[in-house]
Amino acid sequence: MEIKIEKAQKVSGTLRVPSDKSISHRAVIISSLADGVSTVKYFLKAGDTLTTVNAYRQLGVKIDESEGLLFIHGVNLHGFKEPDNVIDMGNSGTTTRLTFGVLAGQKFFTCLTGDESLRKRPMRRVLQPLKLMGAHVDARQKGEYLPAAIRGGNLRGIEFFNEKSSAQVKSAILLAGLYAERRTAVIEPVMSRNHTENMLKIMGANIKEEFTEGGYRVQIKGGSTLKPIDINVPADPSSAAFFAAAAVLVPNSEILLKDVLVNITRDGFFRKLKQMGANIEYINHRTEAGEPVVDIIAKYSPDMKAVSVSKEEVPSMIDELPLLAIVATQAEGETIIQGARELRVKESDRIKATVENLKNVGVANVEELEDGMIIRGKTKIKGGVVNSYKDHRIAMGFSILGLISEEGITIKDADCVYISYPEFYDHLKKVVMW
Ligand code: S3P
Repeated sequence: MEIKIEKAQKVSGTLRVPSDKSISHRAVIISSLADGVSTVKYFLKAGDTLTTVNAYRQLGVKIDESEGLLFIHGVNLHGFKEPDNVIDMGNSGTTTRLTFGVLAGQKFFTCLTGDESLRKRPMRRVLQPLKLMGAHVDARQKGEYLPAAIRGGNLRGIEFFNEKSSAQVKSAILLAGLYAERRTAVIEPVMSRNHTENMLKIMGANIKEEFTEGGYRVQIKGGSTLKPIDINVPADPSSAAFFAAAAVLVPNSEILLKDVLVNITRDGFFRKLKQMGANIEYINHRTEAGEPVVDIIAKYSPDMKAVSVSKEEVPSMIDELPLLAIVATQAEGETIIQGARELRVKESDRIKATVENLKNVGVANVEELEDGMIIRGKTKIKGGVVNSYKDHRIAMGFSILGLISEEGITIKDADCVYISYPEFYDHLKKVVMW
């Protein structure tokens, strides 16, 4: 499906964007390990998180839905069943990598595969430490790509330096650590999103965190039984970011975004917008399921200044960096994003996709770096055709840019927004006045 987004007059109203993808995945995965039934309110129903539900059903977990609640009938650490076929992980890196951690603890055989994009994404980063813990693994192309097979069991704890501060790698190791002898520790130069730790703690796992000069260290001891939980999933900051950006970019705009998760490992984009001089305000601070939640007011911000993004800042805004580059086209000066090489191995090569598409819509002053990009603003957006590379965040980011383009922006394969935000275009129609 192709979709054309034309120049808008204003953005206004109130939205509760869909629930957090990272927490929704974990709610299913970690509750499956619990001893009893967990309930999830406001579970995100989107491509990736439905992939997780399907995968855990194939592993023998009963998951049902009633009156808007998801019930996960946890099977305890050792109640999973060997699936009788290869499991298709669709487009979801999070489902795949976290599930490898769970499977490392199972004595049976499992084979995972995925769609064209997922089969190009690196898996050695997670399979290698699991192998060190004692799991038997193999994967296509010398252990790098899906399809991959795993037979686990008899794990021993390791101490692992998570150089890329990848939350998926950290989570996989911690989940495997539930099954391991002795303790398992993960050290990160910068703390990546910590939803796995938060959830495991609430469920009674033996887990300890500390902040050191070298960064962040989390340690887990195996052998505990996890208690089921009841969890309300807050709105996803990565989805709210698109509408905050829309309000900031389109004249006369103001939007209220409800119930947004602002865990410090996730809200870097909003903090960066504030630093650029954008009108972003957090109101109604509260805590839900151990996570900080606010409502966000975003307003038109014509006086934004360029900023730089350093390596240490990247993890808290990793999925929002293409959108930040898009916003930076309307900030005065040179915005430099560095230390973000990981963007090249997301659902698409997001550095290449962002730079190429900015050029496609008439932004000449943009430069591709090996580990980031440079954008010089302010610049007019003429419009044109962009290739989403079937990457949901690229499709949504350039749809927002369409709102300030002179001739409109056409997005190819726009239906990929289904991966994290199926209602994206309906919500756009709700708050945009053309
Ligand atoms: C995620 C972690 C991040 C992020 C992804 C979701 C998670 O990936 O980009 O969209 O839920 O753990 P990495 O762990 O590869 O940094």
